[in-house]
Amino acid sequence: MQLSLIDNTDPLLNAERRANELRIQIEQHNHLYYQLDSPEVSDAEYDTLFRELLELEQKFPELASPESPTQRVGIASTGRFKSINHRLPMLSLDNAFNGEEIRVKLDERVRKQLALKEDSSISYMCEPKMDGLAVELIYENGTLIVASTRGDGITGEDVTQNIRTMKGVPLRLTGEAIPTLLEVRGEVYLSLEAFQKINRDREENGESLFVNPRNAAAGSLRQLDSRITAKRPLSMYCYAPGMVTGAQFESQHDFLNSVSGWGLPINPLARIVDSVEGAISYYDEMRNLRETLPYEIDGTVVKVNSFQLQNELGEKSRSPVWAIACKFPPRQAETQLENILLSVGRTGVITPVAQLKPVEISGVTVSRATLHNWDELAAKDIRAGDIVVVERAGDVIPAVVRVLIERRDGSEQAVPPPQICPECGAAVVRIADEVALRCMGISCPPQIRESLKHFASRGAMDIEGLGEKVVEQLISLGLVHNIADLYCLTKDDFMRFERMGDKLSSNLLAALENSKKCDLARFIYALGIRHVGERTAKALAQAFGSLYNLKIATMEELTSIRDIGVTVAQSIFNFFTTPDNCAVISRLQELGVHPAAVAKTVGGRMSGKSFVFTGTLTRLSRDHARKLVEEQGGNVVGSVSRKTDYVVAGDEAGSKLNKAVELGLAVLDEEEFLQLLEAH
Ligand code: IVH
Repeated sequence: MQLSLIDNTDPLLNAERRANELRIQIEQHNHLYYQLDSPEVSDAEYDTLFRELLELEQKFPELASPESPTQRVGIASTGRFKSINHRLPMLSLDNAFNGEEIRVKLDERVRKQLALKEDSSISYMCEPKMDGLAVELIYENGTLIVASTRGDGITGEDVTQNIRTMKGVPLRLTGEAIPTLLEVRGEVYLSLEAFQKINRDREENGESLFVNPRNAAAGSLRQLDSRITAKRPLSMYCYAPGMVTGAQFESQHDFLNSVSGWGLPINPLARIVDSVEGAISYYDEMRNLRETLPYEIDGTVVKVNSFQLQNELGEKSRSPVWAIACKFPPRQAETQLENILLSVGRTGVITPVAQLKPVEISGVTVSRATLHNWDELAAKDIRAGDIVVVERAGDVIPAVVRVLIERRDGSEQAVPPPQICPECGAAVVRIADEVALRCMGISCPPQIRESLKHFASRGAMDIEGLGEKVVEQLISLGLVHNIADLYCLTKDDFMRFERMGDKLSSNLLAALENSKKCDLARFIYALGIRHVGERTAKALAQAFGSLYNLKIATMEELTSIRDIGVTVAQSIFNFFTTPDNCAVISRLQELGVHPAAVAKTVGGRMSGKSFVFTGTLTRLSRDHARKLVEEQGGNVVGSVSRKTDYVVAGDEAGSKLNKAVELGLAVLDEEEFLQLLEAH
């Protein structure tokens, strides 16, 4: 929003205008943050606006208004979820921005209000300030009844179903002296690892990406379909009581101890200190520790430990007098995006990368940032020459958050998506339903390089000695054009390399030779099929038992495998129906690469027996049925062949049933299957 020109010399009038502008801006940011999970300014920028408004209202009390955002926290819920009124308001915290401010804005105020003598000290509980979203859980007689978001502090959203999917939140409390009513507040957050994985999956599925773990956590919790929430590994730390009957806590320390004893998660880094100096050191310590934690924290929270003193101190309109949030410096910075570079990956995906004027963000110099894909680039209208906000959001790779449009001078240049590959000049296509642009060149150097590196890597064929440097030389000398070429190399070829003696060459050849007798799952993973990670490769190896069976698998067979959806199945199907890929696999086999079929579980009544499921089971899920078979040593495979022992046909069984009948195999209905396994 543009600021109006202040042309009047009356300070009250000017203050009023500015306050109104600030209120509108803050409300807009509240809406973006709380309702849309998509903030447009950093917390630091928001805090600056908020502070300015607070100061204006303090200086000119006549400006005070019940509608001012300083008088409440956030704004009302969206109405998508049922509203829940909090029995006690969920307050916010006043902010400090460095250790010294804890003294001035908390300790000195507390002492003054309690009329304490100079030499008496106060105990504080120091906790990491989790960067997630606040929720309230209500336990009645130890059972989780309701969970809600904070919302505007008075009314939140009913997210009970979603919270119930979180593994770390007990549905029933355990332990001694459980209160009849326990309202407990805490922060729901996502670990950095989970955040990165969600964004990777979203990128592959062509969905827009979460800017940071907090937005990802909010987006995951505020899902109308709790099955989606269940797939997101959300965590929670509890940090404050709401209304409680049937238990009394003397202090924050006592509270944390008690709830932890009842099975609720609390942050192990919480620590009691006996003076404000201790709280300041804790802040400094956490600032360093921040870089190594598996989750994001954006500061520390310091609370007067004694609940009796907390009661005496009370609260101001927006936040308690007895606590303060001490924020860390932001991990965002503004800089110029000098150029948009193109990077070609293993699967040919061409990703735009921002080349930045180097800028320091919390101790790290950043000169590159990912732009994810061309849709994101267009949606954010990012142009070469723009001033952008860059964030290191608990991610190794920094991201461009947004463009400062108001800083444009007209010289910025939009960069259109490439039509030819910048590395090999081959055509670029956009596959239907995908956001990615892909180079279709079969001899595109970066693609070959990345696929060779992946093939040789530890989780794949594990070919020791075939690292990045060797791969680079193999490509630049034109010795290798695909993974099969690796097995045609001779000792003389290796001897041509820099720093490669007789011994190393022999070792490399031996490692290549060794890898020929590889495990099927590793081989499937090594092929580098899109969407096929180690876990999926294992599932495929188990289901199909041989490379041959996998190669001829139909879409129906692929999608019947646990955890394989249509996107992944399509990618596998496309891979094995692409003639170039089939040719490479055939050559690998000719050259002696023979991935071994998976060893079957031995022992058990169904040992060595293979089952195929088709159609819909009504009494038990596919997963359950598979478990029953596996528990008894049997094996569930995806496709029907002569070797299949039993075909279990549910409702609307399809082509697999026809094939089973054709081959004269034993066909069971669900009932017969359960009888066979004696699983009644
Ligand atoms: S105590 C009345 N403790 O920070 C005190 N809050 O800016 C209530 N937060 O809404 C909050 N970690 O979402 C508290 N250890 C912690 C916290 C924490 C994160 C969040 C919480 C709160 C916001 C206040």
